Amino acid sequence: MTKELLQLRVNGESHTVAAEPHHTLLEVLREELQLTGTKHGCELGECGACTVLVDGVPVLSCLTLPAQLDDRAEVTTVEGLARAGEGAPGSDATMLHPLQTAFAEEGAAQCGYCTPGMLMAAKALLDTNPRPSRDEIAHAISGNLCRCTGYTAIYEAIEKAAQAR
Ligand code: FES
Ligand code: FES
Repeated sequence: MTKELLQLRVNGESHTVAAEPHHTLLEVLREELQLTGTKHGCELGECGACTVLVDGVPVLSCLTLPAQLDDRAEVTTVEGLARAGEGAPGSDATMLHPLQTAFAEEGAAQCGYCTPGMLMAAKALLDTNPRPSRDEIAHAISGNLCRCTGYTAIYEAIEKAAQAR
């Protein structure tokens, strides 16, 4: 099939991408932009591994076609969470988002396959609700499946990040 040109804004940068029109946002991010942090999971809308933010709202990129997005839509992937060049003064180190730090400290990532999607769902939550209750956290990540952690460490990491912000 013939590729078509798409305009996409991802992690604050504009891209012109040649992609097959039936390819999902997940496929375009991973295969055309090499942003492989967003994970292929079920591709059926059931696991949340492919979660990215569109204008701050979590969406399942496996069920989203780039053509569905507004031209000015801002897509944020897990690669956009850490901010390059915002480490210690004078360094070009990357500063992790408080959620990434808390996930590492609390052991909330084991195999790590669910982690990018979890982080994006948690970011959307904290951006709109800086001090969520445990129930609100559970609700916010209810579409993100984790086979490893039993969720408690993930809840605790999100609470820790909320306190750190
Ligand atoms: S890969 Fe998108 S929901 Fe599972
Ligand atoms: S850490 Fe392995 S699936 Fe969540």
